[in-house]
Amino acid sequence: MKTIRDIETLRVVIESYKKERQIIGFVPTMGYLHEGHMALVNVANEENDIVVMSIFVNPTQFGPNEDFESYPRDEARDTALAEQNGVDILFLPSVETMYPENLTATIHAQKRVSVLDGATREGHFDGVLIVLAKLFHLVQPDSAYFGQKDAQQVAVVQGFVADYFLPLTIRVIPTVREQDGLAKSSRNVYLTEQEREEAPVIHAALRKAREEVKERDTARVLANIRVAMDQKKTHEKIVYLDMYQYPSFEPVEDWEKPIIIAICVQYSKARLIDNEIIGGA
Ligand code: PAJ
Repeated sequence: MKTIRDIETLRVVIESYKKERQIIGFVPTMGYLHEGHMALVNVANEENDIVVMSIFVNPTQFGPNEDFESYPRDEARDTALAEQNGVDILFLPSVETMYPENLTATIHAQKRVSVLDGATREGHFDGVLIVLAKLFHLVQPDSAYFGQKDAQQVAVVQGFVADYFLPLTIRVIPTVREQDGLAKSSRNVYLTEQEREEAPVIHAALRKAREEVKERDTARVLANIRVAMDQKKTHEKIVYLDMYQYPSFEPVEDWEKPIIIAICVQYSKARLIDNEIIGGA
C-alpha cells in the first residue's frame, strides 16, 4: 500500500493507472475505520483493479457547534487496517492540502435535504458535495462506494453525480452492524457503557416497524417506534424520526415504491443515525 498526502503525487499515480487502463474503485472516509468501512473496501476490491481510500475529516461538512475537533482520529491504526484490507492507495491529505484557498465558487445541495440531517445540520451536505467534488476529480474513480447507513448522503451524492454527468458509478453497500444490531459507527466509541447497552434499541425498533409498514399508516408506525424506544430505555433523545419516499425524501404517497424510515438519536457525546429502507433494492 502506498500512502500519499499531497495532490501532485496522487495525480502522477492516478495518471499512470489510467494509462494502464486499470479500473479504479474509490472509498471516501473520515477514518477511525471499522468493519462498515471495510465492507466498502471489500466490494471495491472485488470490482476493481485498484482501490483508493481517502481519510479526511472534512471541516466544511461540520457545523460550528458540531464535533469536528473531537471527531475520533487514529492514523496509525487506520493505516494498518487499510493495508490489511487490501487498499492500494491511501490518500491522507491535510486541511490545507484540500482547502488551500477560500472557494471561488461553491456547491449547494438543494434537493433531498429539506428533512433529517439536511434540516438539522445546516450546510452539512454542501460540505459533503464540495469535498467529494474535489476527491472525485483527483481520484477519477470508475466507481465510488458508500454505505446505506448514511442513506440521505447516498441520495444527495447520487443526485449530484447525475446532475453533473460525473463519469462514475455510485455503489451502495448495506449497513454493517454489531452482533446486537447497533450500526457500526466511528462515533460509537463516544457512547457511555450504559448508552452502549441501550443503543441496540434503535435498530430493534426500526426492524419491528418494517413489519408494521404493511398497514400503511405512517403516524402509527412512527408512534410505535417511539413507544418501543421509550419502553426499553430512558436515556435516548430522538433528534428526528420520520418516513419518506426513497430516494426523493418526499412525503410517503406511494406505498409500492421504496420508503425510508430514518432516525437520529443524540446521546451525551454521540449523535447516532440509522435507517431501514423498505421495498426497492
Ligand atoms: P464516514 O462517516 O467515515 O463514512 C465513510 C463511508 O462509510 C460512508 O459511505 C458511510 O456510509 C460508510 N459507513 C459508515 N458506517 C457504515 C456501516 N456501519 N455500514 C456500512 N457502511 C458504513 O460519510 C463520510 O465519512 C463522509 O461524509 C464522506 C463521504 C467521507 C465525505 O467527507
